[in-house]
Amino acid sequence: MDPTRTLAALAALTLLALAHAHTDAILELTDEQYYEMPRLFALDEWAGCRAARGVYCVGSFELSPERRPHALYDVMQRYSANWVDNFNHTRLHRGLCLPRSCASHAPPAPHVPRAQHYAAWFEACVNASMSAAYNLSAQLSRLEYCAGAGAEDDVTPLSASQRGFAGFVAALLALAALSTALDLTLSDHAKKGAEWTLAWSVPACWRALHAPPPRSARTDLASFDGLRVLTMLVVIVEHVCWITTHTYLTDTRIYEEIRGGVDVVLMTNSTLVVQIFFIMSSFLLAHKLLQQRRRGENVPPVATFVSTMINRIIRLSPSYWVVVWFAASWWERLGRGPMWAPLVASEAAVCRRKWWTHLLYLNNILYADDKCLIQTWYLAADLQLYALCLLLTLLLWRWRRAALLVLTALLLAALALLFTLAYSWHLVPTLVMHSPESVRVSYSGDMSFNLLYQSPLGNLPGALAGLLLAHLHHALLDNDVQLPKYKVFSCVSVWSVLLAACWVGVSPRALGRGPPARLPAAALAALERPIFSLFTCAALLGAINGVPSWVRRCLSWRGWACWARLSFGALLLHMPINKALVAARLMTSQLDRQTAIAEWFGVAAVSYLAALPLALLVELPAQRLQRALQTRASPPRPARPPHAPPASKADL
Ligand SMILES: *[C@@H]1O[C@H](CO)[C@@H](O)[C@H](O)[C@H]1NC(C)=O
Ligand SMILES: *[C@@H]1O[C@H](CO)[C@@H](O)[C@H](O)[C@H]1NC(C)=O
Ligand SMILES: *[C@@H]1O[C@H](CO)[C@@H](O)[C@H](O)[C@H]1NC(C)=O
Repeated sequence: MDPTRTLAALAALTLLALAHAHTDAILELTDEQYYEMPRLFALDEWAGCRAARGVYCVGSFELSPERRPHALYDVMQRYSANWVDNFNHTRLHRGLCLPRSCASHAPPAPHVPRAQHYAAWFEACVNASMSAAYNLSAQLSRLEYCAGAGAEDDVTPLSASQRGFAGFVAALLALAALSTALDLTLSDHAKKGAEWTLAWSVPACWRALHAPPPRSARTDLASFDGLRVLTMLVVIVEHVCWITTHTYLTDTRIYEEIRGGVDVVLMTNSTLVVQIFFIMSSFLLAHKLLQQRRRGENVPPVATFVSTMINRIIRLSPSYWVVVWFAASWWERLGRGPMWAPLVASEAAVCRRKWWTHLLYLNNILYADDKCLIQTWYLAADLQLYALCLLLTLLLWRWRRAALLVLTALLLAALALLFTLAYSWHLVPTLVMHSPESVRVSYSGDMSFNLLYQSPLGNLPGALAGLLLAHLHHALLDNDVQLPKYKVFSCVSVWSVLLAACWVGVSPRALGRGPPARLPAAALAALERPIFSLFTCAALLGAINGVPSWVRRCLSWRGWACWARLSFGALLLHMPINKALVAARLMTSQLDRQTAIAEWFGVAAVSYLAALPLALLVELPAQRLQRALQTRASPPRPARPPHAPPASKADL
């Protein structure tokens, strides 16, 4: 054998191995190694800087070695290569006070524009400290702002939108006062025919909030209320940690270390529970229609489609649009701090740009990379899928048995399509998608978020599962099947709750640590929602058919009803409230299990409290007004079955 060729082959192999080792991610570092790396986040004293008439700059820097080889930089790169769990440690984030922190680094050219001068000063200052301490040079990659004292001393005059919103709130309060006065003084006789004047009556709305939920004999929907509140609480804890990830963290070591813990995976991956909302929403829609079919009512397809969609939009929109208006107007005036502009003001600017997509319920599709009130992707996707499910139910109206087959086939087709897309575009499942750097930029440009998470397509399996559940339930009712008599089904249904939770907490472990391989990632990305939905549907089918279990007993507690009615407001408000609370901090934020617990319950309490005035002044009055006007337009028909609730409070 030719020795030179052997040598060359050996050299090539060694090079390959070296190259491999070089790009290989480091999964573990000791504490000593970890804290040798430069701190990722640091903030100077903010109030003191303003008092000293300094200029406060916030921005991000990219580090590079001044000369190679640079052992520390290699470690930083390889540790950051595990982007699923770790921040990118070659990217620093700083808030500094000029000239307090860097009097000696002022660049000499005072005739450049002032903004450029401060940016250059900021960069020189961080670069000098990195160079001295680590032999690394730092380049300013993103400047959030450089602002002198007095630049934002709240002297900005109110914009037209802000004045409009203030006037709107004043009008609401006046309406409520007037309506309440009328309600308290008019006789019952005088109220007849003038119900619309009483729509804003606060005591009447309060009673509506506390009304016992409607119950029906064969379908027990009582557990939906508890489920809605608990799901909302799960969403809130996930968002609490999510928002803190956006700000500057005091200690990134704890954050990165606990990311693999079962409880943290369960929490981070719990955004899957949004599927429960989709299931409930399409189930209730189909259930209401199929009930009409069982009663033999005449359901004209086109008229039903139009009126059901209009009712849905009227039910969702008033509170939603008010909150979007608030976010685009007053939100950014309500606080200040070093992180206020990057966190709140920037999002408010997006809201001013794309508010109209929210009015059209297309905010998850149009300008999908710009996030205003990120949680409202759900409302848009829900309305889009609601229309589709309504259409499917009306199309399958006549074929009772075939409906189940058609829906199952559609579900399988959706799965196949999702898997194909996930595989060909390298999409990743939920937990991987919530990687620290991706969260920091609110998933901007992330196809996994745009295509799987917030698009109607990605959530189609959940909606179809709810539709299937309703059709299955009615098929069982038609055949008079008593599910609690079937021991095996009862057992499966009760255990499904636990299986769903295990699926959320354990399924991401199948991918192993670090960046996942393509095929398993695509498979999990396509299957995680459908499998979670499957378990949820099995549990719900048991619950609505009266299979006894302690979970169902807890969820059916009557006390949940009022909280369930406030959940929609809490969904809208918890993000702006939480973000304002975090952005007003003067210091970096701590994020570990202990602070997460405290902030979870704090944010939940404030959100539900804030949802109360929203419900009493906007949501319930709008519904009462609509009902009053509808009954005026079409005088009460005696044909209306007494047990059909006038407006199904049940969805969301
Ligand atoms: C970390 O950030 C640097 C600089 O922005 C970038 O070049 C690098 O690709 C990032 N690393 C990872 C793993 O994303
Ligand atoms: C930086 O490099 C110089 C020259 O190579 C060396 O003397 C010094 O110890 C290095 N400093 C650090 C913090 O690594
Ligand atoms: C950072 O400082 C080093 C040494 O002082 C210098 O060579 C380098 O050009 C600087 N880099 C930037 C981006 O200013």
